Amino acid sequence: MKVLVTGQSGLIGSHLVDILLAYNHEVYGISRTNRNKNPRCHNFCLDLRDTARAKKIIESVAPEVVFALAANAAEGKSFFSPIDITTNNIDVFFNTLVPSIRAGKLKRVIFSSSVAVYGSIKTPFKESDTPAPQDIYGVSKLTIENSLKIMSQVHGFEYVIIRPHNVFGPRQNMNDPYRNVVTLFMNHILIGEPYFIYGNGEMRRCFSYVKDVVDIIYRSGFEKVSGMTFNVGSDLDWSINQLSEVIQKISGHIVSPKYLPDRVQEVHNVISNHNLIRKIFGYKDTPLEKALKETWEWAKKQGPQKYIYTELELPNKLVPKNWK
Ligand SMILES: NC(=O)c1ccc[n+]([C@@H]2O[C@H](COP(=O)([O-])OP(=O)(O)OC[C@H]3O[C@@H](n4cnc5c(N)ncnc54)[C@H](O)[C@@H]3O)[C@@H](O)[C@H]2O)c1
Repeated sequence: MKVLVTGQSGLIGSHLVDILLAYNHEVYGISRTNRNKNPRCHNFCLDLRDTARAKKIIESVAPEVVFALAANAAEGKSFFSPIDITTNNIDVFFNTLVPSIRAGKLKRVIFSSSVAVYGSIKTPFKESDTPAPQDIYGVSKLTIENSLKIMSQVHGFEYVIIRPHNVFGPRQNMNDPYRNVVTLFMNHILIGEPYFIYGNGEMRRCFSYVKDVVDIIYRSGFEKVSGMTFNVGSDLDWSINQLSEVIQKISGHIVSPKYLPDRVQEVHNVISNHNLIRKIFGYKDTPLEKALKETWEWAKKQGPQKYIYTELELPNKLVPKNWK
């Protein structure tokens, strides 16, 4: 099938492209960076906020299946740069969807939403729970989910919504100082500096290996799951302190983390229920330690990376001190 992946240069997108190509799909990718390119994918480097260019390229591709992954996923930053986060989520989504519909071949859209739509409701989060996001990123994702449902009814295409959970693995962007705790810890070790932990480090997350997550996203594109929403990721919750200990163990580096105040509006426990993907897809997790070892081996090959900071739109005293 003719498949478009937006965000194909990112962590999830690049692994998804590999699977799509392995199953002989004709794959087109649009990202605004040139990282992680598979040369067998037709790659376009483009900022999807550019409506006119997006229209031209996507209408000429005329995709049958669209995996909408492109986004700025900097959740914690979204309070301080809400324009950046909303345009790089909502505008990017509609600039992908509209020309895909106009081109006339669209069968299904798979949207990568986020566990951030749940906010601080009771854990474990179930797909049937009423979302209550408490950051601008989560609000953007929920807006897109709702829009996708409406547009699919009016314009006659199928959709699947994926809510991934703290995904990590080889090819994660190590230059990003605002997100991805696993690679933040690893990159700080490679640089030779202690990493930062917010609050007391007892907040809990379910770290999910990209190779496990991507399999479910791929299958959502083609199996009989139209109109469904899936939590995708691991069920096993770990505290940030526990994650820190495991990374020190596998890397063989002893680190004394620097503890900073809690981040504003940070959800303490992010734990999703994954019974649905276990039932429908037979989902199984790679053990965390094995997945972290593979990621560490990859990170070592990349070597220490320089962080790229961007100017915040609304800096105030609540900005974490380590965001120079
Ligand atoms: N990684 C996670 O833990 C996680 C968790 C929940 C949801 N998600 C969602 O899954 C998707 C993929 O996440 P990821 O971790 O692979 O992200 P990533 O940051 O590694 O990759 C994002 C991709 O989007 C592209 N992109 C961003 N803004 C763009 C723009 N304006 N125009 C064109 N391309 C643009 C980037 O070039 C990159 O290819 C995102 O929608 C993210 O919100 C990720």
